[in-house]
Amino acid sequence: MPNLAGSTSQLRDFGIACQAHQVAIIGAGNVGRTLAQRILAQNLADVVLLDIVPGLPQGIALDLMAAQSVEENHSKIIGTNTYEDTAGSGIVVITAGLARKPGMSRDDLLHLNASIVVEAARQAQQYSPQALFLVITNPLDVMTYLTWQVTGLEPQRVMGMAGVLDASRLQAFIAGYLGVCPRDISTLVLGGHGDLMLPLPRYCTVRGVPITELIEPAIIEQLVERTRNGGAEIVQLLQTGGAYYAPAASACTMIASILNNQSRLLPAAAYLQGEYGLRDIFLGVPCRLGCRGVENILEVQLTESEIEALHRSAASVRQNLEQAQQSG
Ligand code: NAD
Ligand code: LAC
Repeated sequence: MPNLAGSTSQLRDFGIACQAHQVAIIGAGNVGRTLAQRILAQNLADVVLLDIVPGLPQGIALDLMAAQSVEENHSKIIGTNTYEDTAGSGIVVITAGLARKPGMSRDDLLHLNASIVVEAARQAQQYSPQALFLVITNPLDVMTYLTWQVTGLEPQRVMGMAGVLDASRLQAFIAGYLGVCPRDISTLVLGGHGDLMLPLPRYCTVRGVPITELIEPAIIEQLVERTRNGGAEIVQLLQTGGAYYAPAASACTMIASILNNQSRLLPAAAYLQGEYGLRDIFLGVPCRLGCRGVENILEVQLTESEIEALHRSAASVRQNLEQAQQSG
């Protein structure tokens, strides 16, 4: 009977250093499990899915493993309730926390999620000291700052996912209005992931044609307003929680750019050290994402009123951050 299982020594003899990418996802809720599914379906990395609820990540992992068999994919997943199993991850994604209920703002989650995120980041870093951190839990900009603060990592290794999601919503709304393929639309949204986010129509194009040449101002404002309320609109419709398909797709795009060193220019909550006239804050800005994390922040030219709007958004984030830090 031929022995198909290669022994470790055989692999070593061939000098095969099998170092697959591994992503730890903390929080196996709607966003976490959907992100796990997307990472596996694209064979981007192996996944360790962790949650506080006993059995939840394990059950989801078993189900996803069977899906991998059906789809003839090779990336692996385990579900766990212990951080030790996340050891050696290249990226730690934090989606643990509570989602909004109708009538709640993202900021209402502040105190509840701050303690969850800080503990998750601390525990995960203990087992994956080389990991980059991608934060998703809301309120996003504050949770990303707290993750950076508790891990003590250099700023480029910590980022938040929100801008890709907000930009994707504006992309979808513009595509729907114009009747064109979303792929042909490029959008830019800066600022905090909240009501004061700053979609920039001047920088939104359809294959290079500014939308300001294609859509009248009143309609643009409607599309921008719908983008700002994109999360709340879904929460109101679902009544049982928030969006997770587009958030998971957005996070997966960021992870692909990092793991495959694609150097994509994507909006992400990044640590500002003077860019846009702001310091010591995480806020959504255009970032070049590669294997080292946030490798570059692009400062686009803004008008006086756009700068003022961005600083208003930053002030709101900073106010929430101070509240979170006061409550310890
Ligand atoms: P969810 O309620 O479906 O999942 C949250 C999961 O976290 C649950 O499975 C829960 O058991 C787990 N959890 C809670 N405390 C934990 C802990 N201490 N350790 C480990 N796991 C823990 O919520 P969701 O829809 O997946 O959203 C998760 C978070 O992401 C929410 O805060 C939501 O607002 C946020 N979110 C952000 C964006 C964004 O654009 N940044 C988009 C969507 C959702
Ligand atoms: C959203 C919330 C959940 O934008 O952050 O969908």
